Amino acid sequence: MTTPDLKPILVFDSGIGGLTVLREARVLMPERHFIYVADDAGFPYGGWEEAALKERVVSLFARLLAEHDPEICIIACNTAFTLVGADLRAAFPDMRFVGTVPAIKPAAERTRSGLVSVLATPGTVKRAYTRGLIQSFASQCHVRLVGSENLARMAEAYIRGETVGDTDVLAEIGQCFVEQDGAKTDIVVLACTHYPFMVNVFRRLAPWPVDWLDPAEAIARQARRLVSPTDDFEPLIGEDPAIFTSGNPDFATRRLMQGFGLTVR
Ligand code: DGL
Repeated sequence: MTTPDLKPILVFDSGIGGLTVLREARVLMPERHFIYVADDAGFPYGGWEEAALKERVVSLFARLLAEHDPEICIIACNTAFTLVGADLRAAFPDMRFVGTVPAIKPAAERTRSGLVSVLATPGTVKRAYTRGLIQSFASQCHVRLVGSENLARMAEAYIRGETVGDTDVLAEIGQCFVEQDGAKTDIVVLACTHYPFMVNVFRRLAPWPVDWLDPAEAIARQARRLVSPTDDFEPLIGEDPAIFTSGNPDFATRRLMQGFGLTVR
């Protein structure tokens, strides 16, 4: 049986961070085509004023849904989903959105020291949604929120093959490491989908070993649960499209997309 009638799955981020989620989603849904959308014209989302970002993302989705008619959408961006998730669901009630939110609940369940840090964009750190997660699931922990101005950009540069200095990275992640009454941070939540690309660098620079929590696989599993199951399928042939809102990603970005089996449209 072939699977020509299956609708694609749309994966959205402000930049290339959503690829960390796409690679897990592909493993769990090999029968599906994906459409990758990067709002690079708006990148980075971390510093946007909230009302303007809401308006931008909702109107962008009105166009994307009309053009691509996906089965579901994965919002592979904490900065966007913690702000716009509810608005997207209200504006497009027939579409299912799988969100990405800081993995505070699993971190609180796993920590042994009770000291957890959340590494995110400044936008995600200041969201009411994020504070709500801490209140609901981690009130027994000491949670440090670390809003990084530059790390999403650095991750983009790093994954494109540019050199990123250790001192610069350490300046962004250093705040995550807390020592208090003889206890030390043992979990750092990667609450921006760009950051898992740099986790090897983080590991090397960390003053002590911690668990770096990447929610990509859990997001992919949630998406898998929402799409209709298909056991009988033939491997897909051909590449999936990647759409950049700038209309003009650079050469290194195009090459990166190719490596992920995506063709820039
Ligand atoms: N990848 C996005 C996230 O998960 C944010 C990057 C940005 O636009 O600042 O939060």
